[in-house]
Amino acid sequence: MRYDVSQIEEMIYPFLPKEDEEFGISAIQAANYGFKAGGKRLRPMMMRLVFDMLYNKPAVTKSDEYVIRAFMAALEMIHTHSLIHDDLPALDNDELRRGLPTVHAKYGEAMGVLAGDILLNHAYETVAEAMLEKPGDVCLTEAFRRLAVNSGASGMLGGQSLDVEKTGCPLEAHELAFIYENKTAALIECALMCGAILAGASRETVAGLEKAGSNIGIAFQIRDDILDIAGDEAKLGKPVNSDNENDKYTYVRIHGKEESEARVKQLTDEAVELIESIDAVDKEAADDLIHLFRSLTDRDR
Ligand code: IPE
Ligand code: IPE
Ligand code: MG
Ligand code: MG
Ligand code: MG
Repeated sequence: MRYDVSQIEEMIYPFLPKEDEEFGISAIQAANYGFKAGGKRLRPMMMRLVFDMLYNKPAVTKSDEYVIRAFMAALEMIHTHSLIHDDLPALDNDELRRGLPTVHAKYGEAMGVLAGDILLNHAYETVAEAMLEKPGDVCLTEAFRRLAVNSGASGMLGGQSLDVEKTGCPLEAHELAFIYENKTAALIECALMCGAILAGASRETVAGLEKAGSNIGIAFQIRDDILDIAGDEAKLGKPVNSDNENDKYTYVRIHGKEESEARVKQLTDEAVELIESIDAVDKEAADDLIHLFRSLTDRDR
């Protein structure tokens, strides 16, 4: 694997909001605490691997490097915002995340709300700055649109909203599919699509990556649900049994562990086939991406 977590963090940390020197504003500290608490950095890692796989200039230019890093950081900010808010008492009410107390457990509920808002807004500040680097660049505009659409009402936030609304209700198959596609897969699709769009890939390639991202995202959430019943809290860095306590009708609750594991594998195999069908400029990056996908099927954190 060409990048480890610390290399990805080196690329994205410089974009975090600056702490306030005059007032030491807690919500900004809380936002940075939640962001830096750890995490697998999968979304920026996937975005970078797709970018490397498809970028076809001999070497990455300075401005292209800055832009891809800004998008990697922005997506991880939106993802971290989703986790901070997901853990709030009004949603899943969890007190452990990335191996540390959740933002609201450490800073209080109001700061948890504001810290999440700060990261969500800062993602768009980061991308807006990057757009000034290449004024009028259509690829950048399209990547910005995908980032925004996949994060919002018809993406992650729409999925989270239905997930919360349907808590305690047995789900119809189409409701469950909507929730998984949106609350989790939308940001993974976004990672793959933005990497490709910023590398200058064709529409057809971007569409193939969207489908691969959908598969990996749904598989990722099913694995997350399996870990919620069968994982180890110390390894996971978040509570187990949270879904049961919240009376969530997860895929695993409906279909059982064995069928869920088989579905994760099937979805991943299809995603790998899609990646293999793409004409990669950098084949090693494509292999790394496939390796990353496969490693997620039996992850324990
Ligand atoms: C957790 O995402 C939320 C889900 C979509 C299941 P991750 O498992 O990627 O969380 P971090 O970023 O590694 O903490
Ligand atoms: C949430 O799913 C996905 C998000 C958009 C945050 P979960 O509620 O299962 O995520 P975890 O298990 O708390 O990370
Ligand atoms: Mg949740
Ligand atoms: Mg949760
Ligand atoms: Mg979960």
